Amino acid sequence: MTARLSLGATPRPVISVRHLSKAYPLRVWWGGRGHVFQAVRDVSFDIAPGETLGLVGESGSGKSTIGRAVTMLNPPTAGTVAFEGTDLATLTPQAMRRMRSRIQTVFQDPYAALNPRMSVGAYVAEAFRLHRPEMAAQDRRDAVAQLFGRVGLDPVFMVRYPHQFSGGQRQRICIARAIALKPSFIVADEPIAALDVSIQAQVVNLLQDLQADLGLSYLFISHDLRMVRYLCHRVAVLWRGRIVELAESDRLYDDPRHPYTRRLLAAVPLPDPAAERARLAAAAPAPHGAGLPGDLVEVAPGHWVAAED
Ligand SMILES: Nc1ncnc2c1ncn2[C@@H]1O[C@H](COP(=O)(O)OP(=O)(O)O)[C@@H](O)[C@H]1O
Ligand SMILES: [Mg+2]
Repeated sequence: MTARLSLGATPRPVISVRHLSKAYPLRVWWGGRGHVFQAVRDVSFDIAPGETLGLVGESGSGKSTIGRAVTMLNPPTAGTVAFEGTDLATLTPQAMRRMRSRIQTVFQDPYAALNPRMSVGAYVAEAFRLHRPEMAAQDRRDAVAQLFGRVGLDPVFMVRYPHQFSGGQRQRICIARAIALKPSFIVADEPIAALDVSIQAQVVNLLQDLQADLGLSYLFISHDLRMVRYLCHRVAVLWRGRIVELAESDRLYDDPRHPYTRRLLAAVPLPDPAAERARLAAAAPAPHGAGLPGDLVEVAPGHWVAAED
């Protein structure tokens, strides 16, 4: 991928990822060192203010690894992540701590994120206690109550504990904490995957409302391709740790170019069985061979596809 990868983001991107790679050390039974598993290779993308970039790909393709690398929860082994123009790798630990308030993550399992022994109000207030220690207790309570209202929860629930809530309510609590410090960028890693289907749309709509109100940018990681099309402005398709296609959502779904993207989209069941059969038949065979796709080529404005070698 080249420097002309502007990806349509005319204003300064909120997040700018270049040549990001992540290798995990392999533990082998003889205790050998130096063996690594390359989970993500040479991934580049920008996300503009107020934009949602979807990241799709099968399980194990490296989606969560990218999510953790761009938030520096698990930093990349190569490449750069710039947040609002600042290369995160250059920050001192103190500066990174301050930056953390502006970059947040919402995870798949809200129950695991919450502390079972802490009231949910205290959990949300913890964001202020950690990052705004000067805040008075009453101001903190008011701010938390306001956040509860913002995510569609009655503030009287603040004194309750995580087990007293449904999955959707718990995810709302995690979202309240994520937006507490007025971030500009949120990584949402499968945020609806663990929720009842009936609840998923409500949480997605909440994310959309918050984006409109707060100008948030999202990296939305999901294997729910329909929801991704609905929610995301652009979509990146990840295959074996590489982006093989990146385009505006409608373009990607209507005119997928990479064989892997076609296969992925063909796997989405369509309501009409005849259309589904036709779609499956039209799908390209699985890409194979040892050679992973090389650089991305811009086949149409803003539509990038990995060149096949
Ligand atoms: N901490 C880790 N140590 C070693 N390998 C890991 C670690 N985390 C993830 N992996 C491996 O990296 C690959 C990508 O994982 P992940 O990013 O979780 O994919 P996804 O979120 O798309 O399912 C997988 O093969 C996974 O087994
Ligand atoms: Mg994952």
